[in-house]
Amino acid sequence: MILLNPGPVNVSERVRQALSRPDICHRESEFADLLRGIRQKLLKAFVPGAESEYAAIILTGSGTAAVESAVLSSIPHGKRILVVNNGVYGERISNIVGLHRLGVSEFKLEWGTRPDPEKLRVALRQHPEVHAVAMVHHETTTGLINPVKEIADVVDGQNRVFILDSVSGLAGEPLNIAGSHIYMVAGTAGKCIQGFPGVSFVLVRRGFMERMKGYPKRSWYLHLTHYFDEEGREAIPFTPAVQLYYAFDEALNELLEEGVANRIQRYAKAAALIRRRMSALGIKPVLPPELQSNTVTSYYLPTGLAYQTLHDRLKEQGYVIYAGQGQLEGKIFRVANMGALAPQQIEEFLQAFERVLESAAVRT
Ligand SMILES: Cc1ncc(COP(=O)(O)O)c(C=O)c1O
Repeated sequence: MILLNPGPVNVSERVRQALSRPDICHRESEFADLLRGIRQKLLKAFVPGAESEYAAIILTGSGTAAVESAVLSSIPHGKRILVVNNGVYGERISNIVGLHRLGVSEFKLEWGTRPDPEKLRVALRQHPEVHAVAMVHHETTTGLINPVKEIADVVDGQNRVFILDSVSGLAGEPLNIAGSHIYMVAGTAGKCIQGFPGVSFVLVRRGFMERMKGYPKRSWYLHLTHYFDEEGREAIPFTPAVQLYYAFDEALNELLEEGVANRIQRYAKAAALIRRRMSALGIKPVLPPELQSNTVTSYYLPTGLAYQTLHDRLKEQGYVIYAGQGQLEGKIFRVANMGALAPQQIEEFLQAFERVLESAAVRT
C-alpha cells in the first residue's frame, strides 16, 4: 500500500530490516550505544554546528508525547503559556495545557491564516505572565507553514521561551533551530525522518534544561528532566521500544546519507508534481502556494465526489489519501508526499486519481 497520508509513512526495506536486529536489554551497553548514536545523529541533522548547545531527549510514544512533554515540562509555577492556534495541532496544545488547568492564553486564528508577529509582540508585552509561546511549524491540518523565524525573533526579543511542534516539519521543511534561538522542538521518527511511528523526541537547549529542573512535575513519564540522571547525564528511565529505536537509528543513517537539504528538495519536487497535475485537473487547493508545505497539500473535494468514495476507489488501487479534520471534514482531502516514495510511485498515484475522476464524471 502506498501511503499518501501524513504519517505513518512508507519506510525503506533497510529501515524495515533493522527491526529484526538482536534482542537487547535497555540497561546494557548495547542499548546505551544505540541511544547515544540516535541522539548524536538527531543533533547532527537538526542543529548542525550547535550540537553541544542542545540535548536530544528520546521518548517511546507518538509525536503527541513529545509535544506534551515539552509543554508540561517548561512552565514554572504561576506562569502561563501562549499558544498560536491555527489548526488541529495548535488546538491540541491548548487542550493539553487546559487539561492541567495551567491557564492558556490563545492566539487564535482562522485555519489557513498565519500569525502576525507584530500582534504577537503586542500580546506578549501586555502579558508578562506568559513564560512560553508554543506554535506548530507545519500545521498538518491544512498543510500550512507557520512563519517560524519571524515568530521566534519576537519571542526571543521578549525574553520568552519558544516551543515548536515540528512533528510534521523536521526533515521536510528548512528550520534553523539554533540560529532562531528555539528552546524546544518536538519531532517524531514516523513522518519525514522515514522511521516507524512510536518513537518521538524533543530537542532542548541545554541551558533551559538546567532551568527546567526547578519547574513543577506535571507528569512522571513525560517530565523531560527525568531523562537526565543526578550527574546531569542523559538517562533512559523507562523501558524503551528497543526495536523501533533500531529502525529509527537506521532511518537517521539514511537521512544523513541523503542529506537533510536533499530530502527537503526531494519532497518539494514530489509536491510540485502533485500540484501541477491537480491544477491541470481543476482540483482546487485550500491554501495559496506561498503558505503550502513541501509535504502536504489539501484540496477541496470536487462537487459530487464524496470523500469516502474518493478514498475507497483509490485504496482499491493501492493508495491511501487522508481526510479533512474538524471543520474541514467532508470538505477537503489531503495528499501527503512524505516517506520512501519514488517519483514513479507518485506518478502512478496521479494516474489512478485521474481514472477515479473520469469514472466518477465529477465537475471540478
Ligand atoms: C503537527 C503535528 N503535531 C502533532 C502530531 C501528533 O503526532 P502523533 O499522531 O504521532 O501523536 C501530528 C500528527 O500528525 C502533527 O501533524
